[in-house]
Amino acid sequence: MRLDRYLSNVTTLTRSQAQKAIRGGRVSVDGEPQKQPSSNVMEAAAVSLDGGLVARHEPRYFMLYKPEGYVCSTEPELHPGVLDLLDEATATGLHFVSRLDIDVTGLLLITDDGAWSHRILAPARKCSKRYLVTLAESLSERDAERLRQGILLCSEARPTKPAQLQLVSSNSCRLTITEGRYHQVKRMFAALGNRVVVLHRERIGGLQLDPDLSPGNYRALTEDEIGGIFTEP
Ligand code: URA
Repeated sequence: MRLDRYLSNVTTLTRSQAQKAIRGGRVSVDGEPQKQPSSNVMEAAAVSLDGGLVARHEPRYFMLYKPEGYVCSTEPELHPGVLDLLDEATATGLHFVSRLDIDVTGLLLITDDGAWSHRILAPARKCSKRYLVTLAESLSERDAERLRQGILLCSEARPTKPAQLQLVSSNSCRLTITEGRYHQVKRMFAALGNRVVVLHRERIGGLQLDPDLSPGNYRALTEDEIGGIFTEP
């Protein structure tokens, strides 16, 4: 396998970050510095990044029911981090696929397979995310239609991509989006003069939050779920 691909598979580096690290002399293979990202690396090779051996192991994939009050950060400061909810031995080297704000609950994917998470997040793939949204004010059908078509967010030049929106009650709805802009859902409703009071992620691509999980619990994904996430419902 190419060295840059190997490195992005076994660390949290993206492919281009891995290439930069290799060209910058931070990587060695079997004790020898290697500056060529396209060089071939054998399965049994000992690859080091910044002097530390990067271990090749079976990638891990989890779904967590994120509770309120936890931050999606690998180095949380003021609040507990979601990785605190995982077994200590499990939690090392993992990253989140698409973060949730501290007050947002629901499906959070956690993995150490950088290629898998990049595939989910790739804009071209349009992997959808469905949220159950409770609002401070009622939502008119006219405003719902504006959100479906795409709405201009504060300080942005491009409107949001078309979304699916299903009214659940006068002040709650299910919203499915295919982008991941900063605080996107809250800002979409703020653009209409409304406010999100409860936000819960129910689904990413073809993968639903397991109804048997309670807030704070997690489980490994099955083989079918790891591949099935790319099949939109
Ligand atoms: N949109 C938000 O505003 N917050 C999230 O956590 C996720 C989507």
